[in-house]
Amino acid sequence: MPDGRVVVCPGSYDPVTNGHLDIIGRAARVFDRVIVGVVDVQVRKQAPMFEADERKAMLERSLDANGHDNVEVKVFSNLLVEFARENNAVAIVKGLRAISDFEYEFEMNQLNRKLAADIESVYIFASSEYSFIRSTGVKEMATFGGDVSDLVPPHVAEALAERARK
Ligand code: PNS
Repeated sequence: MPDGRVVVCPGSYDPVTNGHLDIIGRAARVFDRVIVGVVDVQVRKQAPMFEADERKAMLERSLDANGHDNVEVKVFSNLLVEFARENNAVAIVKGLRAISDFEYEFEMNQLNRKLAADIESVYIFASSEYSFIRSTGVKEMATFGGDVSDLVPPHVAEALAERARK
């Protein structure tokens, strides 16, 4: 993996969607190294559908298929800015879909900046074809037998269908 400017792309990735892969891929073109951080703490009201190791494996498989050689996936359970520091990251990169994301990200940005003013937050706008995709919506559709094959990689759609059958 090349040296240079490292950034972290954090998230729950429960599960990874084509929207996440779009943001990670675009970050990988702008920065030298991208560390995708899979959160292993419950940040949402609902417990994750997949264990952190499963989410990591799904990300790795998806990223392998996209041929990125400067992207690595790691699980973390500490503060995001600490995780960024441990990995010598200069920035946290996040995707923004709509105004509804803005308020939450604005708040997170202020909090993270207070904790670590030297770690910048960088936002990449979602491509229009992915601007409506959210893991929560994908899980809900898949749970009720909806077709999510346009929204997630094929192996993720299979894993969702498998969970739905259970
Ligand atoms: O995909 P998500 O669930 O929107 O992403 C969650 C994450 C990690 C990006 C969000 O919770 C965040 O920005 N957290 C920063 C605050 C922090 O350090 N929390 C501690 C555990 S992650």
